[in-house]
Amino acid sequence: MRKSMIKFSSGMALVAVLVSSSVFASEESAMPGDLANGKKIFTEGKGAAVACMTCHGETGWGTEAMGAPRLANLGYPYIVKQLTDLAEGRRVPSGAGAVMPLFAQQLTEQDRRDVAAYVNSFNTQPELSDLKSLKDSGTPVGEKYLGQVIVKYGVLGKVSACQSCHGYNGRGAAPIFPVIGQQKYTYLVNQLHNWRDASRANDPYGMMRAIAKNLTDDDINNVAAYLSSAPRTTGDTRDGTTGNPKAQ
Ligand code: HEC
Ligand code: HEC
Repeated sequence: MRKSMIKFSSGMALVAVLVSSSVFASEESAMPGDLANGKKIFTEGKGAAVACMTCHGETGWGTEAMGAPRLANLGYPYIVKQLTDLAEGRRVPSGAGAVMPLFAQQLTEQDRRDVAAYVNSFNTQPELSDLKSLKDSGTPVGEKYLGQVIVKYGVLGKVSACQSCHGYNGRGAAPIFPVIGQQKYTYLVNQLHNWRDASRANDPYGMMRAIAKNLTDDDINNVAAYLSSAPRTTGDTRDGTTGNPKAQ
């Protein structure tokens, strides 16, 4: 018994070392991205691919109306994976994003790494969703304080806490779990519907489909309302929601 415990824990240690070294390799030492080429693709496009900034914004913070996500600092390995999944038919968006597979196919593997490295190098102020104007224009917007409960604790017996995988307030846990905090509201709502009806199915081990199938429409609007402006650290209280569920 004792022996097998030791074996188990040294196995876990090995996994931890492997995971942390792969994070290191992909995010720091071996960031295999040519920023100049990434910038050229982002600002000018390539072949049939229109300049990424047309829809994802000059600073990479996304476009609400179009459902185009923030790409800025979302996580280098995650962006590379999405572009590869889009190019190879594992992710097939509808709506304004239906052009993404064709665009991703215009990029070589190196181009994808370059553009991912470029958007991961941005260092601008967050441009958060304007929930009030969304509400005023008739979009259903959820309640932040209800969403915060799901992000932190999940739904008892049904949904795991989002932060157990995505990190505190969805700030991301590379290489697998993308940043979902401070992502655009419309995009978050769209993706949660896509995971729920399995029209997006490129999640490893079906992790997100298993989560989303137990979310109601209200849950989706509530988590998206909270996440779209959630502070990234416990000390970052710019939007006043940390520790005070009543602040809207
Ligand atoms: C015509 C508008 C448009 C252009 C131009 C465009 N995108 Fe997109 N992109 C979208 C939309 C909309 C989505 C959301 C797709 C969905 O709903 O699944 C998206 C999704 C993505 C995603 C997935 C992000 C995530 O969080 O999973 C990546 C990565 C991406 N685009 C990269 C790029 C790159 C790189 C370029 C330039 C080569 C580019 N896009 C050009 C509209 C665009
Ligand atoms: C068991 C781990 C796990 C939990 C818990 C989890 N997620 Fe995820 N989530 C993932 C993984 C893995 C991905 C990346 C899928 C991929 O590679 O395309 C993801 C992706 C997403 C995306 C897409 C991000 C993008 O840029 O397109 C959204 C949105 C999301 N999760 C929201 C949530 C919400 C909201 C919760 C809580 C209700 C949650 N997740 C809980 C594992 C998890």
